[in-house]
Amino acid sequence: MRAVRRADLDPVIAIDATVTGIEKRTYWQRVYRRYGIAARGEQRWFLVAEMDGRVVGFLIGEVRDWEFGSPPCGWVFAIDVDPQVRQSGVASQLMAALSTSLRRAGVRMLRTLLARDNTLILSFFRSQGMMAAPLIPLELDLQEALPNGSGAGAAR
Ligand SMILES: CC(C)(COP(=O)(O)OP(=O)(O)OC[C@H]1O[C@@H](n2cnc3c(N)ncnc32)[C@H](O)[C@@H]1OP(=O)(O)O)[C@@H](O)C(=O)NCCC(=O)NCCS
Repeated sequence: MRAVRRADLDPVIAIDATVTGIEKRTYWQRVYRRYGIAARGEQRWFLVAEMDGRVVGFLIGEVRDWEFGSPPCGWVFAIDVDPQVRQSGVASQLMAALSTSLRRAGVRMLRTLLARDNTLILSFFRSQGMMAAPLIPLELDLQEALPNGSGAGAAR
């Protein structure tokens, strides 16, 4: 487990594309600038897992201070492992590395968000000891909510 380098971007983009079906090069370059290059000393982590000299997984996390009314808290918002090496402990080691960094930073709580129907990622986070949080995610469809009935719903 180590911090990301620019040369890791291609394998990171490829792993993400196998999971999501979309290659998002511009997005990943932006994430690299923010969580790779600019992260030093900033409580942001973009970690990769290397196996036999090959990048096989990655994790991105950070500390968010006093947001959502919460004391400083760690968030993991991306974790992906190459399907060829799954269920061999790679993601668990990435989580352990992040947890160690967060503890060193004095952070006690780690949080994440996941889609309700993503049972794989739910099983994984549960295996790490994560439990349902006393928080409720809310969302608003901004098209539907346009004033004067001009949103997408108005056409129906
Ligand atoms: C979830 C994911 C990160 C797990 O990576 P991994 O390296 O295979 O995980 P680990 O080997 O560390 O597994 C740890 C535990 O997670 C659970 N787990 C992992 N894969 C599982 C599976 N296919 N089914 C059920 N539980 C599973 C198990 O409890 C496992 O412990 P065990 O091996 O003792 O049974 C990987 O499957 C992945 O990248 N999936 C796609 C991720 C995704 O959807 N990302 C988008 C949201 S950020």
